[in-house]
Amino acid sequence: MVAVRIIVNGKETPLAPAAPHTTVLDFLRDRGLTGTKEGCAEGECGACSVLVARPGVHKPTDWVAVNACLVPAAALDGQELITSEGLATAGRPGTAPTLHPVQEEMAVRGGSQCGYCTPGFVCSMAAEYYRPDRRAKAEPDPGGTTEHAARVDTADPARSHHRTDHEHGPNGFDLHALSGNLCRCTGYRPIRDAAFAVGTPSAEDPLGRRREQAPPAPVATEYVRDDSAFLRRDTLAETLRLLRERPEAVVVAGSTDWGVEVNIRSRRAGCVVAVDRLPELRELRAESGSMEIGAALTLTEIERRLDGGVPLLADLFPQFASRLIRNGATLGGNLGTGSPIGDSPPVLLALEASLVLADADGEREVPLADYFTGYRQSVRRPGELIRTVRIPLPLSPVTAFHKIAKRRFDDISSVAAAFAFDIEDGIVRKARIGLGGVAATPIRALATESALEGEPWTVRTVEAAAEVLRVEGTPMNDHRASADYRSAMLGQTLLKTYAQTTEAVSA
Ligand code: FES
Ligand code: FES
Repeated sequence: MVAVRIIVNGKETPLAPAAPHTTVLDFLRDRGLTGTKEGCAEGECGACSVLVARPGVHKPTDWVAVNACLVPAAALDGQELITSEGLATAGRPGTAPTLHPVQEEMAVRGGSQCGYCTPGFVCSMAAEYYRPDRRAKAEPDPGGTTEHAARVDTADPARSHHRTDHEHGPNGFDLHALSGNLCRCTGYRPIRDAAFAVGTPSAEDPLGRRREQAPPAPVATEYVRDDSAFLRRDTLAETLRLLRERPEAVVVAGSTDWGVEVNIRSRRAGCVVAVDRLPELRELRAESGSMEIGAALTLTEIERRLDGGVPLLADLFPQFASRLIRNGATLGGNLGTGSPIGDSPPVLLALEASLVLADADGEREVPLADYFTGYRQSVRRPGELIRTVRIPLPLSPVTAFHKIAKRRFDDISSVAAAFAFDIEDGIVRKARIGLGGVAATPIRALATESALEGEPWTVRTVEAAAEVLRVEGTPMNDHRASADYRSAMLGQTLLKTYAQTTEAVSA
């Protein structure tokens, strides 16, 4: 067995003697890298954000920010990791340790007060700093015919604000990159100013240059201590054989769910099996008649690779947790946990997705509408993995996704509804509606679909169908919302969809 080691800030660092469930956060802090902080230990504050070298979408390597509190350190066997301490020396080659450009902007603009959140913020900010397709916004074209790259006024970003919207800076910085980072002190304005002031990596920037080479390949891992093990195999076939031998194993990809169980509920597994780097689970392709999205692609990878090609998914992603979570979370994980309030099932139900399930004996395809069998239960058998999510093509052209939650971003939904309609000559030819948060499982709104199909797409039809939608499922009262509120919101989502899409339909 080869020892597990992680390349931390350029230095190989052995994992032993840590236990297999040890998180990246604890691993780092136990080695004196205490810049990485613990706030919530459940993926909601971002104080623990670190950078990991991952396969890139636009360059061979992307620097991806993840929650160190959720990821088992053994999952990073052979991988490169940068902490806030490493950023300080990496940004300026050939000089004594000095602040990285994002750290410098945070310092000079008052983005750090007590400082507890700051290392996490700078790691999330650095990931966006190094995003290859980050572009300065085009300046307004005085002649109306050409575009110019915006000049970022780094002396006073406020003077550049006329060239921004409130979520994107003149330097192309997407504030959603910081949606998983909380700060108790600054009120966020100075942090936003710092984010909107960072420039672009210089040609000598080591981490910028590092993007041009491939990231470390995944490493088969067998990390066993006492009575627990963290295992990773090279191929799907080997992994499925392992799962047949160990059907009780906990399967993890981004570990955004299991990490919470470990930290908050002190759960421990005798065997954890990682599937996040299996090539067979990371394919994304459109063939005649369907699109296949690998179950272990992260939501960020899907979002960037599809680039709006599936509008319903493009609506979903910004509302799914935070960027830090989306950098680790996968469709396979969201569907594998079987949560009735997962955000992806309503969308995938409206898209009429099916799941390809694989075990050591072969594969089978299950429509998502038949997949869930009860609260956090599904037809997936022990030893079986979700290999891919299959979406039939062509897509219905009229779509909408509405998530009702107390916060606009980074929150758990009270109710979620996804709509996909074929409307021809003003008549609803096909209606598919997926709902979350109104039953023990995600469901299709079959009665509402029937109420719409064959009817004219008019306000009268939609108001009648909204009444049907209000009584779909069996919404319950809990701390997030009352049953009455959930029912009322369901109806509103259809009315809102009508209002938003009428223009598109008549165009
Ligand atoms: Fe809060 Fe990790 S400690 S997200
Ligand atoms: Fe204190 Fe952010 S500076 S929590």
